[in-house]
Amino acid sequence: MSSARAAAAVDTTEASSSGRKDAAPESLDREAFKEVLNLLALRVPARQCADMMKAFRGFTLDRPRLKCIVNDGDPPRKDSKLLLLEEGITLESLTPELRGRVETDKLEVHPHQVTLDYSMLSADAVLKKLLPEGVDAPSSFETIGHIAHLNLRDEQLPYRHLIAQVLLDKNPHLKTIVNKVGSIENEFRVFNMDVIGGEQRLETEVTQHGARFKLDFSQVYWNSRLESEHLRLVGTMERGQVLVDMMAGIGPFAVPAAQKGLTVYANDLNPRSTHYLALNARLNRLGDGVRVFNMDGRAFLRLLCDTPSGPAEDIRRQRQQLERKPAEVPSQQERSPSAAGATAPQAATEGAVASSAVGQPAKRQRTKEKVSEAQGPVPPIPESFTPPIGGIIFDHVVMNLPASAIEFLDAFNGAFDPAAWAHRPLPTVHCYTFKRTNETEADIVAKAEGYLGGVMEAGGCTVHTVRDVAPNKLMLCLSFRVPKVVAFNGRL
Ligand SMILES: C[S@@+](CC[C@H](N)C(=O)[O-])C[C@H]1O[C@@H](n2cnc3c(N)ncnc32)[C@H](O)[C@@H]1O
Repeated sequence: MSSARAAAAVDTTEASSSGRKDAAPESLDREAFKEVLNLLALRVPARQCADMMKAFRGFTLDRPRLKCIVNDGDPPRKDSKLLLLEEGITLESLTPELRGRVETDKLEVHPHQVTLDYSMLSADAVLKKLLPEGVDAPSSFETIGHIAHLNLRDEQLPYRHLIAQVLLDKNPHLKTIVNKVGSIENEFRVFNMDVIGGEQRLETEVTQHGARFKLDFSQVYWNSRLESEHLRLVGTMERGQVLVDMMAGIGPFAVPAAQKGLTVYANDLNPRSTHYLALNARLNRLGDGVRVFNMDGRAFLRLLCDTPSGPAEDIRRQRQQLERKPAEVPSQQERSPSAAGATAPQAATEGAVASSAVGQPAKRQRTKEKVSEAQGPVPPIPESFTPPIGGIIFDHVVMNLPASAIEFLDAFNGAFDPAAWAHRPLPTVHCYTFKRTNETEADIVAKAEGYLGGVMEAGGCTVHTVRDVAPNKLMLCLSFRVPKVVAFNGRL
């Protein structure tokens, strides 16, 4: 439609920082989409509408949001309806059988006009009309609460504001459209993005398997495509068990696991992730079910295991010093979540941590207080967490940092206290990683064993394919029990 194309014309005279021609401010002329269709209508008995639609299938009006059966006249006649034929269909272009049907059923044929406008077209149909030859409409986007996340190709970039405006118009639940800029290269797995339409509001809320998650999409990692994987893995865990989530993000494993009745030690290096993780534990009323840490994953594991080279001993010493100098430190009451000056996430974490018992899930304190939205850092180690001698006992470890989690397996080597674990099964590790097409699953398992520094039990590793992330790259989850030779290396 030439008028619509004209409405979408973009000025390509302004060069962007990337050196390509950029678009000047674009405007969407919705009026330019008005179009009158001149059709033929058959007057059909009201009671035979379904039968007639079936008989004339392939010749009837077939447009999104338009019906091929409409009222006959105004006020509408009760005994008849109009069956609309597609634009360009004449009596001559019908099959001989259908022409015969028109005659024998004495169907009257009338010219009929339908006015199409912007509101009747799908986003795809609008964009097909707007974008020039060679520029496709985006085929899909990810939705995160009120945010749509696009990954536009170079040739689509000059039209990004136009594309965003159409998506906002056609998807009323969307309020912000962002486009990914560059690839994820930072350790927090957060990508740069441009807001290309709508509100500059990047904090949003999503619901997954009944749990609520708040997040700022520009500050933390989130991938809606992992929802079924989160569910699958948590499905393998049992109520009463203890989960260690080494790279927990904002909690898509930790929160549902705690909802299921596991006690979760959840950690992430990104302080913004742990802020939202603590907030999400509170939003979902998980009380002390999720204990939030903000440190490197290796140090976190060695802290929880009380590994001699890890930070547990130092923390115990610090805690003892605090206990010895009660006059110089605020009392427990003063440090309580309701004490003046305590930020909400600190309160969340402090309130959440109540256990010094080895591996014993503390009784849940289901909070009833209103969840505060205040911002604030989560301490690296919850103030009321004192690592027990011999470490905590846990059942599962999740490591979802597929680009490098496998390298963190070295942290398990010699990490476990043989006395504490003597009569207990060692934990099951669920380590996410990537496999390229030139690698086999056996290669990946061997790579994991290389980082562990020891072999797994024969047949003891389950390899689950999570999804295709690129044409030659799969995301896998390796699940295996920590081998004894690895866990107690150098300690027996
Ligand atoms: C791919 S995201 C997964 C987050 C979450 N588990 C999920 O499924 O959405 C990886 C997370 O690892 C965190 N991370 C990166 N390096 C880390 C490290 N050395 N120790 C702990 N967490 C780390 C990132 O901040 C990020 O939140």
